[in-house]
Amino acid sequence: MLRGNKLKGLLAELRMLRAERHSYCLQRPFSTISVAIPPTIQSGKSVAACCGVVALAYACHVSTSAVENLARASGNPSYSTEDVSLRDGMEGRELWVTYHGGVYDLTSFAKEHPGGAAFIKSAAGGAIEPWWQYWKKHSQSKVDVKALIAKYKVGELSDWDGDTTPIDLYDDEPPRNIERQHLVMAKEPLETETWTPRLNEQLLTPADALYVRNHAPVPRVPSAEGHKIDFVLHTADDPEILMRSVQLGNLMEESPQKVVPSVLQCAGNRAADNIKATGPTGFSGSEFETMGVGMAGCGIWGGASLKNVLENVYGGYSIMLEENLWVEFHGLDGYFTSVPLEVANDCFRDALIATHMNGEPLNRDHGFPARLFLPGVIGARSVKWLSKVVLRRGEGESPWNARYYKAKLPGEAETLKDMPSAMKLPVQSIMLTNDASPSQPGGSQFLNRSASRLLSGVAYSGFSGDSIAKVQVSTDQGLSWNDAKLTDSLKQFQEKDSSVKKGQYHWVKWELDTCYKDAKEVWVRAFSSGGETQPAEPKPNPGYLFNGYHKVPVVG
Ligand code: MTE
Repeated sequence: MLRGNKLKGLLAELRMLRAERHSYCLQRPFSTISVAIPPTIQSGKSVAACCGVVALAYACHVSTSAVENLARASGNPSYSTEDVSLRDGMEGRELWVTYHGGVYDLTSFAKEHPGGAAFIKSAAGGAIEPWWQYWKKHSQSKVDVKALIAKYKVGELSDWDGDTTPIDLYDDEPPRNIERQHLVMAKEPLETETWTPRLNEQLLTPADALYVRNHAPVPRVPSAEGHKIDFVLHTADDPEILMRSVQLGNLMEESPQKVVPSVLQCAGNRAADNIKATGPTGFSGSEFETMGVGMAGCGIWGGASLKNVLENVYGGYSIMLEENLWVEFHGLDGYFTSVPLEVANDCFRDALIATHMNGEPLNRDHGFPARLFLPGVIGARSVKWLSKVVLRRGEGESPWNARYYKAKLPGEAETLKDMPSAMKLPVQSIMLTNDASPSQPGGSQFLNRSASRLLSGVAYSGFSGDSIAKVQVSTDQGLSWNDAKLTDSLKQFQEKDSSVKKGQYHWVKWELDTCYKDAKEVWVRAFSSGGETQPAEPKPNPGYLFNGYHKVPVVG
């Protein structure tokens, strides 16, 4: 029985293996059973970057096969773990999993799996419990997934050891300085927003105060220099042509280094405002429904120019793919997502393979040792713990493109897949003055009634990269507006390249001394230099990209 200390020891060892990228192989190091997490093909010229912890925990779980012929007297056919492992969903093979000693054929279910077939394949051929434990949100979903798979049961596992003790895959999270800075929405995986008064203390958000949005346990990478990033070309004939595998230290040495001041904002920021203004969204009923304005921060990001790296690696190869080119980015945690090539390559935008925030190496929560950083694009596309880049035709199968982070609600005869993925952050203004206590959710922001007070906050233009022309405040429900004073001390960090107009992706601070003793709410809105502003009447949406006026209630 691989339990207690022994199991923990194995997991630690396996984490190291992954960190050292020995986990490329599709073999489970602790069993004879092959595994595919995520489902990628290994051939002479291709490399599969597998998502180690899941694979490995999973390996530990199913390698407990000392007990033989425990097929239960249920009358159902019985299969060994090895039988199941052969049904790994790869190359047209069936997709089986085990759950609590039962064997399930999910081949047909995979096609309609809400998270996409690619995602469920990463659990194929073995026990599903560690996979659910890793992608913890999955087992906390409103859908009863256990009931959902019941009808796909095809038999019993003959060598099941009967052990149902959950494995803790979140026991190596980084140390965190949470109390003064964050409102915690979920602990495993960590989801926080920054407490607004903390954001208001300075223009640049300190790294340990920046919101955290993780989907899985935080990977541990022992050395920045030795960390490898693979660059792959995905063609119709061969989905995994390895173009280059390079150590981060070398990549940084050979690439021009850039510094970009920019906001990072989660697409779902201001969920509570959104629900109040437009009705229920995809976040209603979840831990995010009370989210305020703190899933955003502004830092100075440093690293290699993505455009330069892509040009060096792929050169003329993109011609092989002809059109509809996307770049897909993979993190060591198994999270992956894609953006159109023109967004990744946009010199106005200065996307980075970032290694630094505010002059310091990234911390573990924010992607150490390297993450993608896409100024003006929703945070979900800035993949942390970057381990693989794929140039491909089409958007690909990421559930975070195909299902989550959608820009609009489904229309008639439209499937989720037909709906555009959310990419562009809209112009935004945020009030940061807040009299609520940090024990209250972000969405409970309010102002104590006052005859005279300096109110302040931030504004940014999002995807356009235009500067902020004006921020206005209203204390009479929009009947009249007063211009706030703007400060922009980050201009100095903008690249000085006269040949290219650079975007402005950082936020500017606004402040206004105002009286709101008779106000019901204080409203804020911004205008970009390109004429974009926030909608007075925002439309219903799936829960992302909300940028209605920021309306803060006045109490007392
Ligand atoms: N990258 C990886 N590998 N795993 C993740 O869970 N979360 C995404 C993005 N990149 C995520 C990721 C989301 S949804 C957001 S909003 C940002 O990272 C958050 O970045 P931060 O946690 O550094 O603030």
